[in-house]
Amino acid sequence: MKIGIMTGGGDCPGLNAVIRGAVKVGIRRHGFEFLGIEDAFNGLIDLDYRSPMGNRWLAAKDVQPILPRGGTILGTSNKSDPFRFVGKDGVERDVSAQVMENYEKMGLEALISIGGDGSMGIAKRMQDLGMNVVGVPKTIDNDLAATDYTFGFDTAVGVATDALDRIRDTAASHDRVILVEVMGRDAGFIALHAGVAGGAHAILLPEIPYRIEPIVARINDRRDRGMPFSVIVVAEGAKPVGGESSILEHVPGGMARLAGAAQICAAGLEPHLGDTEVRMTVLGHVQRGGSPSNFDRVLATRFGHHAADLVAEKRFGRMVALRTPDIVSVTLEEALGAPKRVDPAGQLVETARALGVAFGDE
Ligand code: F6P
Repeated sequence: MKIGIMTGGGDCPGLNAVIRGAVKVGIRRHGFEFLGIEDAFNGLIDLDYRSPMGNRWLAAKDVQPILPRGGTILGTSNKSDPFRFVGKDGVERDVSAQVMENYEKMGLEALISIGGDGSMGIAKRMQDLGMNVVGVPKTIDNDLAATDYTFGFDTAVGVATDALDRIRDTAASHDRVILVEVMGRDAGFIALHAGVAGGAHAILLPEIPYRIEPIVARINDRRDRGMPFSVIVVAEGAKPVGGESSILEHVPGGMARLAGAAQICAAGLEPHLGDTEVRMTVLGHVQRGGSPSNFDRVLATRFGHHAADLVAEKRFGRMVALRTPDIVSVTLEEALGAPKRVDPAGQLVETARALGVAFGDE
């Protein structure tokens, strides 16, 4: 059986571990052959697409060394939706029939699509056209309700926590207030987990709109108790009460790019803090690169294994998911259900509050 495998949407640590898991199990257990498709659907829209490697058949030896590597050996793209494909002429077209034709021309009998909600939506529509698709969820944001965790999240939290440790040292040396903006889009999981792991004094989440006054009160309270510095984690989707997340750019047909949340909060704090200096660091894409954590390597490898098994069992139109401690599968419809968000009344928020962390709604 010939299987296509691709990675779509933003990259995240652990993609290569999924590819390795699926290819190794698929070859060893099921006798599959794997075509690695370059840059998400771009490699199926145009079979001659080369950027920089092109589509290629993957042997076990090709995936053996990639377990600890960040990024994706197959490349990825946010701009390869076959239903809304913008060609070199800048015109948007539906090229899904061409994709089906190329899938058949290559002799493929199934596709393993590793991606986020955008990729799962495309996978579902291709499945409806007759392609046999199995999905694997990925995102550092951890915002898919169908799975307890997505791989990449743990690594991103590790990077952000390491940054907070460093920021605390310099904030304490200079008696400064430093804000650290982290990724996550409309979900505050990275901010909450890194904030707790990194001992932040305030954590601003998209799910809990903030006011400036309680954050100022927290900073002043620390100063009054002999700790004249504070570290504040700001999720990129954080918003003031009555305001919106700070949008850098609207992307036609895609998700808006967020940026500026920490800057807005810093500008709100500064007039209230007298001589205390305020600084800001935006972690950005550093959270998406690097070697996956042990947790992400294990989860990604398990996802790859189970995706290959789903193909062998011909259980198409499904996505692998973690329901601790098991890997299960859900339909692509379920996968596309309500997104997951931080529960403002949840236990981790409560633990943080018990430790004195301000969320700006006090
Ligand atoms: O969804 C993953 C993510 O890293 C978000 O946390 C972030 O807002 C976005 O992607 C950044 O996207 P891009 O790589 O297109 O700038």
